[in-house]
Amino acid sequence: MKAIVLGAAAGGGFPQWNCRCAVCALAWAGDERVKPATQSSLAISTDGAFWLLLNASPDIGAQLRATPALWPRGERESPITAVALTNADIDHIGGLLTLRERQAFSIFAMKQVHAALTMNPMFSVLSAPVRMEVYSGVPFRALEGLECALVAVPGKVALFLEGESPKLASDEGDTAAAFVSDGNKTLAYVPGCASLTDRLIDRLSGADAVLFDGTLFNDDEMIRAGVGEKTGRRMGHLPIAGEGGSLEILSRLPVARKIYIHINNTNPVWIDGSPERREVEAAGVEIAYDGMEIVL
Ligand code: MLT
Ligand code: MN
Ligand code: ZN
Repeated sequence: MKAIVLGAAAGGGFPQWNCRCAVCALAWAGDERVKPATQSSLAISTDGAFWLLLNASPDIGAQLRATPALWPRGERESPITAVALTNADIDHIGGLLTLRERQAFSIFAMKQVHAALTMNPMFSVLSAPVRMEVYSGVPFRALEGLECALVAVPGKVALFLEGESPKLASDEGDTAAAFVSDGNKTLAYVPGCASLTDRLIDRLSGADAVLFDGTLFNDDEMIRAGVGEKTGRRMGHLPIAGEGGSLEILSRLPVARKIYIHINNTNPVWIDGSPERREVEAAGVEIAYDGMEIVL
């Protein structure tokens, strides 16, 4: 199976349109230590003919144009036949609005995510996508020869559905990990995760590649950068560094390829050679980039 990282960045992309934090400033200046990135999404195929998207980012137009494997084959004939959604955040569903123009495809998601699409009439412009409700941990055939399972992981509802005090790490199905298997190899895609529970660690340990939530390096990074009031944990994202952070757990995971994805613009791991980037790489974890290919 082959996976192409269409976008490696968290919501807003990198650099973010309205941000000149220390990391974005390098990108705006064209500093060679950083590479701009679009919002996170993964394309997967076993045969190169049909492709599954894991999430559809608002940057999907530019992502498709940059990825010849996803170009149309004939008049109104896209090789993308299915999209699986891990949650209903705008950076993961916004791109669906670009996939209208009379092309049918399947949308696989759990109940909560379908509900978020249904409540928003804008998504009714999609020409009859087949909306398939799937259940946590129950495998489904996403493409010929490719089985997928969405597994509920700790997380929270989409930002636009938050009430006064949202549950930050509920595992009721608002956020999922996607496990994709060709019968031989398994790839896990987890762009949002509030906590690495023993059960999740167990399941990830059986994968050949894990792409994991790398939103923030330090939990209070956005506060320290002066660009926000929220911690990573308040946003439903486990930070990379520190006690209980994802890096100490991922570093011990017996998985061949471990890759951070969904990286926020404030995260210093974007900077090649930064101490934070070196710490991640020394622990055996890679940093995703747009166009990265993972062949399993
Ligand atoms: C997140 O990952 O926390 C969301 O993408 C936030 C957002 O929708 O801006
Ligand atoms: Mn996001
Ligand atoms: Zn920034």
